Amino acid sequence: MNEGFLDTIKQGNCLEYLPLLPDNSIDLFLSDIPYGISLDDWDVLHNNTNSALLGTSPAQKGKSGFKRRGKPINGWAQSDRNIGLEYQQWCATWAGKVYPKMKSGSFLFVFGARRTMHRVINAFEDNGFLLKDTLAWKKPSAHHRAQRLSIILERRGLKDEAKKWQGWRLGNLAPIWEPVAWFMKPYTIGGTITDNILENQVGAMNIDECRLNGTSPTNLLEFGFTKEEKRIHEAQKPLGLIEYLIKLTTKEEQVILDPFMGSGTTAVAAKMLRRHFIGFEINPEYHSSALKRLEQIVPVKSREIPLLLQPTLFAKNAC
Ligand SMILES: C[S@@+](CC[C@H](N)C(=O)[O-])C[C@H]1O[C@@H](n2cnc3c(N)ncnc32)[C@H](O)[C@@H]1O
Repeated sequence: MNEGFLDTIKQGNCLEYLPLLPDNSIDLFLSDIPYGISLDDWDVLHNNTNSALLGTSPAQKGKSGFKRRGKPINGWAQSDRNIGLEYQQWCATWAGKVYPKMKSGSFLFVFGARRTMHRVINAFEDNGFLLKDTLAWKKPSAHHRAQRLSIILERRGLKDEAKKWQGWRLGNLAPIWEPVAWFMKPYTIGGTITDNILENQVGAMNIDECRLNGTSPTNLLEFGFTKEEKRIHEAQKPLGLIEYLIKLTTKEEQVILDPFMGSGTTAVAAKMLRRHFIGFEINPEYHSSALKRLEQIVPVKSREIPLLLQPTLFAKNAC
């Protein structure tokens, strides 16, 4: 089963690799997928040639943070409005390939973006998965990047207008949380969910191992990076958060699939917790960083897992 793929991250397009995995072989899907918000090259999943979105607007020149984001310069064209649907179609192309690989009744955690998660959910539902819950990953802090309207107006020489708009801003509220869609592959054997768990060893939650200071876990996940965690990928997730979801839903030796590995956080967490992993990453640089990160990991016994979940640590370690 899964020979040649187990405990490796293959470099390349996951759409080509996924069909090669054996059916009904994956215990948990856990992936932080591209978001469809043009965050970086790997996140441009549409054919829109609008100049602002592709980074050639005068306001975007020389600004790395917004090289591909931003709003159209001449109002919203139909091509801008198609981006959401194109992203959903892209998600559907691989969600359909993932479906047969998952065990009956298994779980899937999909990290996405607040603006586009509804598209991911549609694509997954259309390919047979059931949405179980939408979890919120709450970050310790978030930058508030909202431009002051009065300053923009002053730059245009509109002093009276600038006074009128004092205190108003363009943009969003500080983005303090990210969504994690939690799906289940419906079980197809006759009988109950318990019968399916006995048959396939998936579909339950290990609450006792995931209590925070004795309290039952909620669907609000509060995790930050520890001081030791090196930041390699702009969309990297805290190791503690990924470890937590793995511990919640799998046992040692079970197999976790992440087709969009980035810096390899899912693989690192899986190896640390004595689970198996299968991963893909298209970008050669992220791929080699992930492999280097993995080399340094020594698996630990369940009871020795560092307590990354303590609220005190969370408070201290802002992203
Ligand atoms: C959101 S990032 C994952 C970051 C990761 N959670 C971490 O902690 O580093 C998504 C990754 O998917 C990769 N990717 C995009 N399209 C891909 C494809 N078709 N096959 C494999 N990887 C892909 C991108 O290069 C990017 O590194």
